[in-house]
Amino acid sequence: MEITKEAIRAGFDKYLCDKGSQHDYTLMYHETFKELTGCARMLEIGVGAGRSALAWREILPSTELTFLEKTPYEGMLEEAKALNIVVGDSARASVVSALFRDAHPFDMIIDDGDHRPDFQFQTFLNFENRWTQAYVIEDIIGQENERLLRRRLKSHGYNNMRTYSSKLSNGSLRMNGKVETNVPFYAMVIFPNATEAPQPE
Ligand SMILES: C[S@@+](CC[C@H](N)C(=O)[O-])C[C@H]1O[C@@H](n2cnc3c(N)ncnc32)[C@H](O)[C@@H]1O
Repeated sequence: MEITKEAIRAGFDKYLCDKGSQHDYTLMYHETFKELTGCARMLEIGVGAGRSALAWREILPSTELTFLEKTPYEGMLEEAKALNIVVGDSARASVVSALFRDAHPFDMIIDDGDHRPDFQFQTFLNFENRWTQAYVIEDIIGQENERLLRRRLKSHGYNNMRTYSSKLSNGSLRMNGKVETNVPFYAMVIFPNATEAPQPE
């Protein structure tokens, strides 16, 4: 499906979402949507003030949007409160299976919840078989963590992913007992493994 970079960026900017001017994940989403045959259902993990939730409603007006939030924020934008927000912790397998047991698989899932790699990987495992076309992990902090996630995904059988750099490089990270600052952010898109063309009989 084709969604122009301008339309994606305008949606982010309209709601002052940091995926626009701050991280600039516009190109990543533009290229990711191009790979999808359509996006009837999408889930985003992590709502915060509701800025990306409202941006997605603008960018994907025909998509059934679901959001998962562990701790709904009191100051959430009034407009966002009307969206389909499910309360729960994406990193707890029992919570995810109880909440999404009967849900149709999502075409795409975005994890913009807890940015620590153990939680990002656990969340990915909890949503395995619940997405069909793309799974996005936003805000991986530091190259080490990007490599760690890539290794874990590969050893779990996934081999079709792309990493994008965020425009922001002001993450902070505890490494070997000391806090590193000015650490770059990355985002990763995982696609289903490419299937080989069937051999002629
Ligand atoms: C970075 S903010 C989300 C921003 C929002 N997606 C946007 O772009 O406007 C992260 C949110 O994820 C939520 N969160 C953190 N860990 C979570 C988890 N394990 N499950 C669900 N939500 C989580 C936090 O409570 C917080 O509201």
